[in-house]
Amino acid sequence: MKQLISLEINGHEYDVPVSPRDVLADVIRKKVGLTGTKKGCGMGDCGACTVLVEDKPVLSCITLAITCNGKKVTTVEGLTLPDGQLNPLQAAFVNHGAIQCGFCTPGMLMSASGLLKRTPKPTLYDIKHEMSGNICRCTGFKRIIGAIELASEAMSKGVK
Ligand code: FES
Ligand code: FES
Repeated sequence: MKQLISLEINGHEYDVPVSPRDVLADVIRKKVGLTGTKKGCGMGDCGACTVLVEDKPVLSCITLAITCNGKKVTTVEGLTLPDGQLNPLQAAFVNHGAIQCGFCTPGMLMSASGLLKRTPKPTLYDIKHEMSGNICRCTGFKRIIGAIELASEAMSKGVK
């Protein structure tokens, strides 16, 4: 039996019928049509599906959509600035070569975004700790960590 839930995704209201077993990743991708959020393992192991719920990173493949009723959700599409430009974190990933195949990138960006909201000037340890749940099979992580450091610096200087 379906229940109508209300989600505020990237500033837009969506009323979506869900069954109790529907996970947030599937609702975002299949019912709302925002396919930036990726589903890799589907088991909470890889971080590809990370989105922010009330500004905190969650693994949307193991989060029941029904538990997000009435909440604010941010996906990778919501990071882009209103004028269509990349935000400093997205730009740092591009400029620092932190993307190869790109499959992990939305989840990486959302985990990093959650960290920078909480801790605008993270230490190297903070970054490594936060990103430890996000797996990349391509980049070797060094450039991803470097990009987050660059974004933190840019944002602390007021770059939007
Ligand atoms: Fe969610 Fe891998 S798809 S953790
Ligand atoms: Fe390919 Fe990370 S860039 S999995």
